[in-house]
Amino acid sequence: MGVSSNGLVGKLLVLNLVMVVVVLVMSSTAYGAGNFLEAFEPTFGGNRVRVSGPQNTQLALTLDRGSGSGFRSKREYLFGRIDMQIKLVPGNSAGTVTTFYLSSDQRTGRHDEIDFEFLGNLSGQPYTIHTNVFSQGQGNREQQFHLWFDPTQNFHTYTILWNPQLIMFKIDETPLRVFRNYENEGISFFPKVQPQRIYASLWNADDWATQGGRVKTDWSKAPFSATYRNFNIDTSPNGAWRTHDLDANGRMKLRWVQKNYMIYNYCTDWNRFSQALPPECKKSGV
Ligand SMILES: *[C@@H]1O[C@H](CO)[C@@H](O)[C@H](O)[C@H]1NC(C)=O
Repeated sequence: MGVSSNGLVGKLLVLNLVMVVVVLVMSSTAYGAGNFLEAFEPTFGGNRVRVSGPQNTQLALTLDRGSGSGFRSKREYLFGRIDMQIKLVPGNSAGTVTTFYLSSDQRTGRHDEIDFEFLGNLSGQPYTIHTNVFSQGQGNREQQFHLWFDPTQNFHTYTILWNPQLIMFKIDETPLRVFRNYENEGISFFPKVQPQRIYASLWNADDWATQGGRVKTDWSKAPFSATYRNFNIDTSPNGAWRTHDLDANGRMKLRWVQKNYMIYNYCTDWNRFSQALPPECKKSGV
């Protein structure tokens, strides 16, 4: 009796181990390992890019008078879902810009890009979240938002989901913006053939970033720092991201964000596009 139950325990242990191994293998194919040193490399700023944590899952960028800093993925991706947890520069961050974006090779002159940019502000004033999409070197698809939380107190998950049908910008699973591919309706503006790298940076842009450049970076508060951690890169061909779209709940949340937190939408900027709004603006989008 003792022997046979030991045998059973042993078999269960082996089964458990096998399951743990299977789960580990599955998660490492579905996601990047979350290790910054494996998946990313610095682009500028030298030792202002600092990786930490036992599994190298955290990365801090610093901006001082000398320079900002940045990093990019070693690999390029054609479609995928990228999640990045970010804690933005706290306190007086006026004049600073923190970014998380995708871009194809800019040297082509016809590059594609999908942007999240976080424009700093004076203490107690809201950050502006800037989003944009470029296709074949052309952008001008900006939407800007304020946030429903303080992005400097805790980490929040910022997601760029890019599949052949749509680009979705999400924060903590709440969709802010959906940019659709309307090529079946004769509108060709959508990044869909050029692979893109993941980029992030922290830099000084006090000529335009905060309240149109009126508020300058306060260098007495330097160095400024933003922290990234626990990224996931999901490019698995059968991943849910491939066909992901808004469900009823997502549509409701998107409307809530757009109604209460959107501060700029290129599709309603008739002064700027006095000849004609970009063609996708005629579509409801949601
Ligand atoms: C900063 O705060 C002001 C005042 O609340 C606001 O109008 C502005 O949109 C905020 N963001 C930036 C980047 O200026």
